[in-house]
Amino acid sequence: MDLLPSEDVWAFEALKELLMGEKGFDLEAYKVRCILRRIYLRVRSKGFPSLGQYFKVLNRNPEELERLFQYLTINVTEFFRNPSAFRYLYERILPALLAERVGRGVINIWSAGCSSGEEPYSLAILVLEVMKNLGVRNAFHILATDVDVAVLARAETGRYSADALKNATEEEKSRYFIPDGDGYLIGKKPKGLVTFRAANLLVDPPGEKQDLILCRNLLIYLSREKQEKVISNFAGDMRPGGYLMLGKAETLIGRSRLYYQNISPTERIYRKRDVPLEGDNPTP
Ligand SMILES: C[S@@+](CC[C@H](N)C(=O)[O-])C[C@H]1O[C@@H](n2cnc3c(N)ncnc32)[C@H](O)[C@@H]1O
Repeated sequence: MDLLPSEDVWAFEALKELLMGEKGFDLEAYKVRCILRRIYLRVRSKGFPSLGQYFKVLNRNPEELERLFQYLTINVTEFFRNPSAFRYLYERILPALLAERVGRGVINIWSAGCSSGEEPYSLAILVLEVMKNLGVRNAFHILATDVDVAVLARAETGRYSADALKNATEEEKSRYFIPDGDGYLIGKKPKGLVTFRAANLLVDPPGEKQDLILCRNLLIYLSREKQEKVISNFAGDMRPGGYLMLGKAETLIGRSRLYYQNISPTERIYRKRDVPLEGDNPTP
């Protein structure tokens, strides 16, 4: 089957324009096969025979546009997703950052594409544990961004199902969560470490320079060209020697390889090299 039937080409173009205008969301940046698969799943599940027919309704229905947007952003996440990667952060990267930056100001961590908050709150819990072990206070700040404001609202509420916490230990649950009916509320201490902000990774820089950037399970949905650009841009968003952690199915691409040293191939952790970045002015 054609990825996009010819009679639907106009509707796909119109949908791109609508999502860009209403949500600032650029479908061109994502893998077309993946995007079309999800769009047609939605079209069929709503009982429409074609994208064209669906678009005519969508165009007059902001609620359905919101639902389609949510469906396209793919928000799947959980606490301590890929536990071995978080263990590596806890045992090696966070203590190393503390040792390197002691007395030199707050350590900045950025969770880019944070979804409903499970990733940045997992980080906050580890950061609190590391600070407790080493007898340090107020050493970290976590910025958490996502393009989807609906998931950010859930993150701010901080209420999670028991299933979302299946990778957390009993000790972590009792120390950092408050039981709430059949789920849990994130506790005050981890919550206080995280600032959530709506931002599109493709256009909005984080503001402050970062010491550790987590961008996991987002890049796989982007086109190769955009993956290369985003990973390269991260190097410019970091302080010297900053760390980058990608998802298990993601890796450095093209020229972005120049900017990082591979610290843990299995956990997809990289460290910024001391090399000039594209756009840096050569020293005279
Ligand atoms: C599959 S979730 C990954 C969540 C978390 N990082 C993890 O690994 O569990 C991907 C998230 O990336 C967000 N996202 C997609 N494109 C984005 C963009 N251009 N800028 C910021 N966030 C984006 C989605 O809204 C979604 O919440």
